[in-house]
Amino acid sequence: MTVKVIVKEDYHEMSCAAAHFIESKIVEKPGAVLGLATGGTPLATYEELVKGYKEGKVSYRQACTLNLDEYVGLEEDHPQSYHYFMREKLFDHIDIDASNTHLPNGNAENIDHECQRYEGLIDEIGPPDLQVLGIGINGHIGFNEPGTSFDSTTHVVTLTESTRKANARFFPTAEDVPKHSITMGIRSILKSKQIILLASGEDKAPAIQRLLEGEIDEEFPASALKNHPDVTLIVDESAYQGV
Ligand code: GLP
Repeated sequence: MTVKVIVKEDYHEMSCAAAHFIESKIVEKPGAVLGLATGGTPLATYEELVKGYKEGKVSYRQACTLNLDEYVGLEEDHPQSYHYFMREKLFDHIDIDASNTHLPNGNAENIDHECQRYEGLIDEIGPPDLQVLGIGINGHIGFNEPGTSFDSTTHVVTLTESTRKANARFFPTAEDVPKHSITMGIRSILKSKQIILLASGEDKAPAIQRLLEGEIDEEFPASALKNHPDVTLIVDESAYQGV
């Protein structure tokens, strides 16, 4: 399948385009299930969503969300947990019902059971009508690192040094970055009806080039998206410069 591509001038324009995509989905289907991502890339998208909500453009009262991933071992109130991130950046500022927002529980006593529970939830309330994704510099999506099976469902991963280093900017020291996380698998992500992949900045340019020009290969997790019928890449010019 061909990945549709929207190239925007800069990060701000890319974020506005992504927010517009999400808002249109909610307008079309107020009870839509949104698959959401964390990381630096969607931050301004979430700001635009909050702005749009405050301007009365959309209501999230009937919407549900399912996040991609969570670190293992951080409390929900830990400032670097993805639970905290989502509340602080989005959920606390819109009219979504907190009980309709879902993330994996990285503190579950039995992590394997938690993975099964979360995959069950994706099937039960999902799959997402629209999944938002970022991409790691090594092509990871969610926390699916290179080599992850395209058949994978929600599972625990040991983070690579490159991912821990990339995420160290959010933590007091590099050592504080957790070593494990729970993530939707590649197969879980591909269950979504529609996917938007966001990328900004020159650091992401090699990954975007490989995604668009390279082979479908488990060594490059994002390439699995080419097996999905409805993926739109929303990218800024600096992340698109290698193509
Ligand atoms: C993180 C997240 C991913 C995210 C990616 C890119 O490790 N688990 O969901 O898409 O890395 O992050 P960023 O947007 O900060 O570049």
